[in-house]
Amino acid sequence: MPEDFKVTPWEVTGDIDYDLLQERFGTTPIDEAMKERLSKYGDIHPMIRRGIFYSHRDLIPLLDHYDKGNPFVLYTGRGPSGNTHLGHLMPWIFNKWVQDTFGVDMLFQMTDDEKFLFKDMTLGDTTSMAYQNALDFIALGFDPKKTRIILNTKNIDTLYPIALRISKKVTFSTAKAVFGFDNSTNIGSIFYTTLQSVPAFLPTEEAGKQVPVLIPCGIDQDPHFRVTRDVAPGLNYPKPSLVYCKMFPGLSGGDKMSSSDENATIYTTDSPKAVKKKVGRAFTGGCVSVEEQREKGGNPEVCAVFKYNYYLFEEDDEKLNELARKCRNGEILCGECKMCLTEKINVFLEGHQERREKAKDVIDDMTYDGFKW
Ligand code: TRP
Repeated sequence: MPEDFKVTPWEVTGDIDYDLLQERFGTTPIDEAMKERLSKYGDIHPMIRRGIFYSHRDLIPLLDHYDKGNPFVLYTGRGPSGNTHLGHLMPWIFNKWVQDTFGVDMLFQMTDDEKFLFKDMTLGDTTSMAYQNALDFIALGFDPKKTRIILNTKNIDTLYPIALRISKKVTFSTAKAVFGFDNSTNIGSIFYTTLQSVPAFLPTEEAGKQVPVLIPCGIDQDPHFRVTRDVAPGLNYPKPSLVYCKMFPGLSGGDKMSSSDENATIYTTDSPKAVKKKVGRAFTGGCVSVEEQREKGGNPEVCAVFKYNYYLFEEDDEKLNELARKCRNGEILCGECKMCLTEKINVFLEGHQERREKAKDVIDDMTYDGFKW
């Protein structure tokens, strides 16, 4: 069978078969036993329960280490290439849950260098976008005392010595095999993966002893962290553990919300009117006429509006199941569903936008090494 999907850190296309992807990458499913174990630390997050965070690497040894009374450090990041949308918030919301549940420190890396190298953007663009994105990250309520934001171009003095040591262990042929680079690739891109690896090692470097790191992020980042894990033992660092999520769907029915499809993307700064318009146009898979839909029902499995409830906006399983049932029976139609979702998104965004404004007062206190934006 032809495989018609592609997942790399820079490109996600086609209908993603997440089981097959897991197999290809060689990551481990978050199975019932793991869910059971995670539920002992506090209320299990809906994204785990629902299989959105669905795959991992070495989560078991990390939890064993934690159970013996040792902390770990959380690490995730963002390549600031545009305004923040709901798809970016999703894994951050999960990170916040991990920070609260385990009471751990967190590093958030903003790779303004990465987006400069891989996109048609100036360094000025990517750095100012980093500021905008960081406001959204802070607005989610990360503990300001336990959370530090790294901006690669500002913190390069700390990052560079470790990046150098990493780069000496990664050959060009590895970079080509992992990322598909060729002779036309700019040489900054080839080096970049070392910088994304550094925060996984920084806690050990700072503490002067082995500190394990957990990285919750989209599964598209796995190629980078395979490299990170491969070089770790040779540099005397612990291999980071990972938990991976699926991509947040687009409103037009695609597998990944993406800024290349503006109308199918909800940004954190969107007005209630804009949200209404975008959700109004969402792909639902409903029938062409009301009569037909009342009779045959809809299909929540393909419906973007249902997926939004599933991924972010309806945490109550019973309510979600009830919604699916009503849809299949033709008891609820797409218009009503869209209105409910619009309302939920707008309530969330109203609070988020307020917190985002307040974040401007603390953003300077949350930077790594106290850099100024
Ligand atoms: N490469 C990521 C992006 O394109 C940014 C990033 C840096 C990241 N470090 C990370 C993502 C750690 C997840 C985890 O957005």
